[in-house]
Amino acid sequence: MGSVETRPRRSVLAVPGSNPRFIEKARELPTDAFFLDLEDAVAPLEKENARRAVVAALNEGGWGSRVRTVRVNDLTTQWTYRDVIDVVEGAGAMLDCLVLPKVSDASHVRWLDTLLTQIERANGLEVGRIGIEAQIEDARGLVTVDEIAAASPRLETLVYGPADFMASINMKTLVVGEQPPGYDVGDAYHYVLMRILMAARANDLQAIDGPHLQIRDVEAFRRSARRSAALGFDGKWVLHPGQVAAANEVYAPDQDDYDHAELILDAYAHATQVRRRGAVMLGAEMLDEASRKMALVIAAKGRAAGL
Ligand code: GLV
Ligand code: MG
Repeated sequence: MGSVETRPRRSVLAVPGSNPRFIEKARELPTDAFFLDLEDAVAPLEKENARRAVVAALNEGGWGSRVRTVRVNDLTTQWTYRDVIDVVEGAGAMLDCLVLPKVSDASHVRWLDTLLTQIERANGLEVGRIGIEAQIEDARGLVTVDEIAAASPRLETLVYGPADFMASINMKTLVVGEQPPGYDVGDAYHYVLMRILMAARANDLQAIDGPHLQIRDVEAFRRSARRSAALGFDGKWVLHPGQVAAANEVYAPDQDDYDHAELILDAYAHATQVRRRGAVMLGAEMLDEASRKMALVIAAKGRAAGL
């Protein structure tokens, strides 16, 4: 579906589906996107109430232009099919995407695609409009991430799930987002982030970084966000109002880079179209077609962020 610029997702707010106060608060926060959670932030005994609350919250509206999504339970549970049916039958027209957690192979995504198509047809909804966000959060998901990323035209994003992932590989730490103690030779998450990013980009999907659980430490959030943003990630989950502004800022280019990108685009357009040259100088910098492509990425992210 679409391109990586399809929808802005610098900040993706996690909202427990069973908590009316958090749902209310989510309508006020300036995030690009949110997901109402039916999975790990909802206790097993609250799953059914949460489904009803999530459907009601979507139908009540008040979400502005935010990307509206719901995270269903993963396919090893007894809840997933009912989550999908109740949410899409109850509020499908108000929903942009479903988030599927713990996707460990491509069949998970295909299952959800098929079920969505059936529900859309049966309810007169536009077939294929509801997208899928796939969370990569275990070793199997990572080693099959290329097939997962190509599994359905509904896919819009791959989302890194650090907490589950770290548990899945037996990482010797309890702190999500920080380097595991003892690993002092680089970034322990580099391979995972890069692997997800490559699979996403090869399939024209967005890549979204997962949550940072030390919610009061905004500087630590910012450090972790800067790392994935530097690689090319499009955004990050936020769990707390204090993380929102940091995510919106870190995943947008800064003003100087944005201005410079627009300058490169203008200079290069003039060079190729008016002067018929493929390489030109802008100050001390040589520009060619590859420079234009890099500038396009920064300019598109800047425009989407309203710079
Ligand atoms: C998110 O779902 C995570 O496991 O980090
Ligand atoms: Mg998880």
